[in-house]
Amino acid sequence: MVAFVKFANYPQRPISHKKFILTRKCSKVYSPLEPTSTLETLILDQLKRGRFKSNFYDVHLIKMKVTYYGHSTFGVEAGGKNLLFDPFISPNELAKDVTVDSIPADFIFISHGHEDHVADAVSIAKRTGATVVSNFEIITWFGSQGVDNGHPMNHGGQWSFDFGTVKYVNAVHSSLLPDGTYGGNPGGFVIKSDGVSFYYAGDTALTYDMKLLGEYEKLDFAMLPIGDNFTMGISDAVIASDFIKCDKIIAMHYDTFGYIVIDKDRAKKEFADKGKQLSIINIGESIDL
Ligand code: NI
Ligand code: MN
Repeated sequence: MVAFVKFANYPQRPISHKKFILTRKCSKVYSPLEPTSTLETLILDQLKRGRFKSNFYDVHLIKMKVTYYGHSTFGVEAGGKNLLFDPFISPNELAKDVTVDSIPADFIFISHGHEDHVADAVSIAKRTGATVVSNFEIITWFGSQGVDNGHPMNHGGQWSFDFGTVKYVNAVHSSLLPDGTYGGNPGGFVIKSDGVSFYYAGDTALTYDMKLLGEYEKLDFAMLPIGDNFTMGISDAVIASDFIKCDKIIAMHYDTFGYIVIDKDRAKKEFADKGKQLSIINIGESIDL
């Protein structure tokens, strides 16, 4: 892992092997804070020794808050922004207690065009004014639905947003929008923000391309489909976590309809047997990663 120390009013800089936010406890003493090389050396030394004690600074591991809204729908707080993935809530009986109109979004990521990934996207985009990020064809379709704030991407491309970087990566699946419009090629997203990286796979089969993600990015966690039938199932998802070299997996795309009902205990065990952690988040709940 790359490590970061965040000085108040200064950009982050990598300094160690874990991720930290450094905040001033007592702004009166060090105001304005000058991150001199001496200070950074001191902090680095302390971090390497596994400790950091100071009357003036707090060191925190950077975490992201991940909220599950059912099916493949997640909210992630990253870089001070609310990222929303594949909003499919109102048609999902399992998510009936989620209030769609209260879900925050600064950016909405759409992995592909299927109804179970875009159902609430237009209404949320119009309510929030969020930027919709997806492939070119899907962004064009959103434009035809009156959502003009779109950012088109295509496979292999990366872009820097204000919260961090996004790369649109391969998925083995199909992509047709609800009205029959061609939805381009399906994809997933690799997102980096505040020194934390994660992979949102979308709907996909296990594919050797995932090995590339493990090669070029150190992922802190990943959302993978595990429901089988339309996407990879549990056993393939375990292999996928090997390919991407990431042992913290969040489950998605299971239980919503009959074809994808799974045994969640078996899923957790299959991951645990390989020394991996599968998080199955209750709908409407959040975890910090
Ligand atoms: Ni799909
Ligand atoms: Mn799907």
